[in-house]
Amino acid sequence: MPVKEQVLYTEKDIKKRLGEIARQISEDYTDKEISVVGVLKGCFVFMADLVRELTVPLTCSFVQVHTREGEEGSLISKNILYTYKFEITDKDVLLISDIIDTGVTLHYLMNHLKEMRPNSLKLCILLDKPEQRKVDIEADYVGFTIPNHYVFGYGLDYMERARDLPYISFYKE
Ligand code: IMP
Ligand code: MG
Repeated sequence: MPVKEQVLYTEKDIKKRLGEIARQISEDYTDKEISVVGVLKGCFVFMADLVRELTVPLTCSFVQVHTREGEEGSLISKNILYTYKFEITDKDVLLISDIIDTGVTLHYLMNHLKEMRPNSLKLCILLDKPEQRKVDIEADYVGFTIPNHYVFGYGLDYMERARDLPYISFYKE
């Protein structure tokens, strides 16, 4: 059967939704400075667009998480890489990620960030796929909630390709 790409959200859809989220975040963080922490690689397009819509002062840093899952969501290996001089103690941290699927990666990462004693820690994600959730995790800001499709574009990869697409797509049988 031929596989066809189907666009889920266009550039225009994404821009509109980002504007809404950015307004909400800017309001919630009035008179504060946000320590924006992006989860690589998937965050890079979303975060670049989002931070430029925020109207509060902010700093940017990045983390990269590598996890390997065993049975029933148990982690058999995990690694977190932080950008140089990563300092979030007493800061108001907004974690930015592309997607929550099982939730295992972000759950693990957030537990580590909490140990660094930030003043606050919130999560902002572009896409939520709640059907596959294995751990209890909820984002504070969600771009779009989607069904259980493998999606790509706008920072998300399809076998490391397609991150550069300005829209979000999936393959339809
Ligand atoms: P989780 O730990 O299952 O929540 O997923 C963590 C990571 O898997 C995400 O940050 C993405 O990098 C990747 N991922 C999950 N679903 C998708 C998808 O539909 N498209 C591209 N990457 C995905
Ligand atoms: Mg991937």
